[in-house]
Amino acid sequence: MSTVLQVPAEVLTGSRSQALAGDIEVPGDKSMSHRALILGGMASGETRISGLLEGDDVLHTADAVRAFGADVDRLGPGEWRVRGAEWQSPAGPIDCGNAGTGARLLMGAAAGFPITVTFSGDASLSSRPMERVLAPLRAMGARTEGSTLPVTIHGGGLHEISFVNEKASAQVKSAILLAGLRAEGQVEVIEPHRSRDHSENMLRAFGCDVEVEGESIRLGARRRLLGTDVAIPGDPSSAAFPLVAALIVRGSRVTVRNMMVNPLRAGLIKTLIEMGADLKVENERLEGGESVADLVVAASDLRGVEVPAARAPSMIDEYPILAVAAAFAMGRTVMHGLAELRVKESNRLAAVVAGLRACGVDAMEEGDRLIVEGTGSPPRGGAEVRAHHDHRIAMSFLVMGLAAQQPVAVDSAGMIATSFPNFVALMQPLGARIA
Ligand code: S3P
Repeated sequence: MSTVLQVPAEVLTGSRSQALAGDIEVPGDKSMSHRALILGGMASGETRISGLLEGDDVLHTADAVRAFGADVDRLGPGEWRVRGAEWQSPAGPIDCGNAGTGARLLMGAAAGFPITVTFSGDASLSSRPMERVLAPLRAMGARTEGSTLPVTIHGGGLHEISFVNEKASAQVKSAILLAGLRAEGQVEVIEPHRSRDHSENMLRAFGCDVEVEGESIRLGARRRLLGTDVAIPGDPSSAAFPLVAALIVRGSRVTVRNMMVNPLRAGLIKTLIEMGADLKVENERLEGGESVADLVVAASDLRGVEVPAARAPSMIDEYPILAVAAAFAMGRTVMHGLAELRVKESNRLAAVVAGLRACGVDAMEEGDRLIVEGTGSPPRGGAEVRAHHDHRIAMSFLVMGLAAQQPVAVDSAGMIATSFPNFVALMQPLGARIA
């Protein structure tokens, strides 16, 4: 039976709130959740996952791994058991829903097996570029049909590759590494700009050799995966919303516990601190191969900053909420190197600029840059913003409404369930007026 729920389109409104206060944990990291299911599904033996994000994106991946022949069972909230298998051609198309990560990683994993599979997705995912993954998979010997979903892959018999990951895409890197598990010869990804390394970390935890030397990431000789236990910490890309909410709502003080602080994901924290945020990273520790910490944040007077292009891979999903923080800051914030934002769940550059302008903020796109002029006082708000069925655009503007002069409504807020299903339920007890 499918575990994926139908998500209704929904209008929600964020309204000016009293000081936010409380102590929360956000759901498990989405990147790690996809990877844990996929690696578990390819490994021999049993994998136990705790803290799995049970958002729609990840539930589609669970269904996919099951369709390839693995046993995938939910034992309790966030607790899952996967028994891996030799992947088989599934009976029908694999529906990846809204999930770019699910689609691209599954394509890579499937390409290693001598099977044929068709991938499909929702309207947003069907318009996103897949050639970035298909081209290297073809270079390894796979045959592919289609360049946007639906895409069909005929896998197996793969060989060596050395690929330069110009776009700093962790999804592309991961697809190549996963395909490489079943390839003959050297499998290498060269990263001039490093992208998140959860695949490398988790492959090692499953017993695979991954060598990192300068810009080069290579699979070693040992490429067999053995089932293991995976504990998934809180998703920094979800924590970003309560963190920024606490910064912009006067008098707030919020603690977010058990958040992953892998340096390749920590660009937003660094940027907010540069903006003058009262944000402390406490109790940093290593759990399951990833750095984890508790973050304590208090409302702050922010100032505009320059965010260098080199930082983009470490905060690529956080620009919409950073743009909201910038709208409350004093002065100009310039975010450089954002071309990739145009091919996310929506064209996020355009969606953010349109939403900010609708709320009375002076914002513009200039080439690959996003520029936001803050006045140091709360923007007007008072608009219904189009979220373009994009979960992070929806959450960003709901957060904006908590501190803007007038409420901010968003259409299509139902998509929040793809990555942060309990967003509203977690924010309301902090004092956030979202309804
Ligand atoms: C992800 C990588 C990023 C990010 C996405 C998750 C991953 O995409 O935007 O939400 O888990 O590897 P790109 O690889 O396209 O940069």
